[in-house]
Amino acid sequence: MTIIVTGGAGFIGSNFISDWVTKIDELVINIDLLTYSGNINNFSKVKNNKNLNFVEGDIKEKKFIQSVFNDYNPRAIINFAAETHVDKSISSPENFINTNILGVFNLLESSREYWGNLSENERGSFRFFHISTDEVYGDLKTGEPSFNEKNPYSPNSPYSASKASADHLVRAWNKTYGLPTLISKCSNNYGPYQYPEKLIPLCIINALQHKPIPIYGDGMQIRDWLYVEDHCAAIRKILDKGISGETYNIGGNNEKTNIQIVNKICEILDELKPSSKKYSYKELISYTKDRPGHDRRYSINTSKIENELGWIPRENFESGIRKTIEWYLENKVWLKELMSEEYSNWLESHYK
Ligand code: NAD
Ligand code: DAU
Repeated sequence: MTIIVTGGAGFIGSNFISDWVTKIDELVINIDLLTYSGNINNFSKVKNNKNLNFVEGDIKEKKFIQSVFNDYNPRAIINFAAETHVDKSISSPENFINTNILGVFNLLESSREYWGNLSENERGSFRFFHISTDEVYGDLKTGEPSFNEKNPYSPNSPYSASKASADHLVRAWNKTYGLPTLISKCSNNYGPYQYPEKLIPLCIINALQHKPIPIYGDGMQIRDWLYVEDHCAAIRKILDKGISGETYNIGGNNEKTNIQIVNKICEILDELKPSSKKYSYKELISYTKDRPGHDRRYSINTSKIENELGWIPRENFESGIRKTIEWYLENKVWLKELMSEEYSNWLESHYK
């Protein structure tokens, strides 16, 4: 048996395939374009595993995707591949439309063609699993109930609008053509191998380099945080037991303001790696102008996946964030290799 994973060189995808090949004896074909956030070093610890094949390529290329389907006869495809950084979707939305909408359209069409030629039994068990996000639900006010799977779509950024568009396509391919689909919508992930444009790794790296730690607006925006291994376990559970055509929310039941997150990271760094300049890293916190259209709060109701599939998160935030910081401290070579001109240009243009 074989599964295809797209975007398996990114943060969540690489954690997913590393877990998969160490836990499950089944071939994984990892398709990734290796954009700036994709990195073959992210899965280096399993790169020689007999159950992992890496194929460099673009989810938007129909012939390429068709050839991978025909070569490997998968029982499922899990799509992680996407443009993922909200700030980049605001400054340059085009890639988000192309990859997150047209790329998913291409995967759906290639899957539909392949699936249509399977035997009846194989058609029933095939799954097209699309990894979406809680951001498609939009913004919550304090006191409003958490997002459940019936909440209406209300995306506010080009990123979340592109992910919402893809979700609608996936739903339509299920309703119209009967393609067996699954969608998951997860909250903010953290853990090893996250590209340092996102809040947590950016905060750790800037602190260690004695650079300002940027907080947008008043820092009181709320996110729900989930350790990446828990997200990967939820995805395995949904692939295994999820009902075709259904959507499952995934979250950590761990809502925190951005300033709480950054303060916690500074406290742990003060303990593990005290500054040679003899100050608390908190002194580097620097309030900057807010993100346009910035959603104030996300919160996830996880009853459906807990009650129907028996998944719960294992890691609590205290232990997860400490493990994450220790990982970044121990993996300076991985980090150093990311410090490219492209990365510096992004920091320069975005935070100037
Ligand atoms: P990431 O940016 O770290 O990784 C994205 C990967 O997709 C990279 O390896 C990149 O090279 C690849 N990719 C981009 N365009 C491609 C293309 N055209 N063809 C093939 N590969 C391509 O992102 P991530 O944080 O790992 O997110 C993975 C998925 O999970 C995304 O779909 C994202 O929307 C979703 N998600 C992320 C979070 C989070 O907190 N990071 C939370 C919920 C959902
Ligand atoms: O909710 C799931 C989403 O989480 C995923 O779908 C996205 O792919 C992922 O990028 C993430 O989106 P966010 O915008 O929530 O993540 P980010 O790390 O960019 O920002 C987290 C919060 O921190 C957000 O409120 C913005 C704020 N922030 C971020 C950066 C980069 C700052 O205050 N300063 C910063 O420099």
